[in-house]
Amino acid sequence: MNRSKKRIGILTSGGDCPGLNAVIRGAVKVADRYGMEMIGFLRGYEGLVDPVSYITLEPRNTRGMLRQGGTILGSTNKGRFAATVGVSDRINIDPHLLDGVKKTCEQLNLCGLICIGGDGSLAVAQQFHEVGIPVVGVPKTIDNDLSATAFTFGFDSAVNCATDALDRLATTAASHERIMVLEVMGRHAGWIALYSGIAGGGDIILLPEIPWNFDEVCAKILEREKAGKRYTLIVAAEGAPLPDGSLVAAERRQENRQTKLGGIGGIVAAEIEKRLGRETRSMVLGHLQRGGGPSTFDRLMATQFGAHAVRLVMEGRFGEMVCSNPPAINSVPIMDAVNRLKQVHPQCSSVQAARAMGISFGDRVDQTHVPLTHEDSDARVGLDRVPALTTPTPVAPVTPIANFAPITTIAASQATN
Ligand code: F6P
Repeated sequence: MNRSKKRIGILTSGGDCPGLNAVIRGAVKVADRYGMEMIGFLRGYEGLVDPVSYITLEPRNTRGMLRQGGTILGSTNKGRFAATVGVSDRINIDPHLLDGVKKTCEQLNLCGLICIGGDGSLAVAQQFHEVGIPVVGVPKTIDNDLSATAFTFGFDSAVNCATDALDRLATTAASHERIMVLEVMGRHAGWIALYSGIAGGGDIILLPEIPWNFDEVCAKILEREKAGKRYTLIVAAEGAPLPDGSLVAAERRQENRQTKLGGIGGIVAAEIEKRLGRETRSMVLGHLQRGGGPSTFDRLMATQFGAHAVRLVMEGRFGEMVCSNPPAINSVPIMDAVNRLKQVHPQCSSVQAARAMGISFGDRVDQTHVPLTHEDSDARVGLDRVPALTTPTPVAPVTPIANFAPITTIAASQATN
């Protein structure tokens, strides 16, 4: 170790997404050009203590990573560093662990630690900052649900994946005159469903932010049939509550872990088939949305985020998080970004444009008089992590999808965490 050189640590935490390696590469290139060394901690925060595990990062061993999916550093979204379960449910990190992290930073002569993560991981970074660990944050998630940044990298790649899936489903749906339901990720925010639904020619989009019901979904299908359109594409966000207000979970809640959502697509398809007697199929796009290399947009944003994070360290702006504020890249306090969910605004321009084109959100709206006035931003920020929902009534059991945990519905209040 060259003690005369400044050194920066970097890690990737939480669920992976396309673009993580591009951030690392961007940061390494910039640090190198400014005469600084970089090391990468392995398996997220876990690599910081007991045992400390890291690798040296140089332009030479990060070459070609711009286009590589996943993270070469590994990641974990469970383990010893849980700082939050759902919104504002703060868990204080064990002080011994925090001391351990401080010691690691001192022993490795770190002048800064770049933490790349989503909501939960940035909440850990915030607690590091509170005890004086020199941390800066970089936001990532395919869900695009972090407030204080217009976009997170990974989101565009996920939307591209879902759009491609819809393109493929459209051709087979048309051939067989079927109804196809595509379930996409996004937790309690409908960004992936909304953007891919519009871009992929969806006819009905079910979002967490807009209450919907089966009568309207079926009415839209029948309306299409009347107009001679004999197939229908439905996009369902995994976190869209059912009409009774319950969320659909792939498994029951585990302690200190977010509930795994999933299964709404199968329920929607089964109900449509029951009500209309039309052949209806569903597919869960799942982790395909997180896999593979980043899109052009995500490569660009990830590279800019990596470069900007190094700049924040150089300027000693600890406790801040890089953010996208188009067309600029700048930063905000990490505190402003965590614990506040950024959801789709139900009256935003994207929703209004979709409605004006005849896309249904499964709710009752006079489609002939859709106002084209809209909110300035597509987002609404500062809501509770989970929309207030009614007490669920049990949903009829659905045949489990192959390789998928049995579907259960759970109360929204339990599902937050
Ligand atoms: O937060 C990203 C995300 O992909 C969500 O969209 C999804 O609900 C969740 O992670 C899946 O997490 P896991 O990979 O732990 O099942």
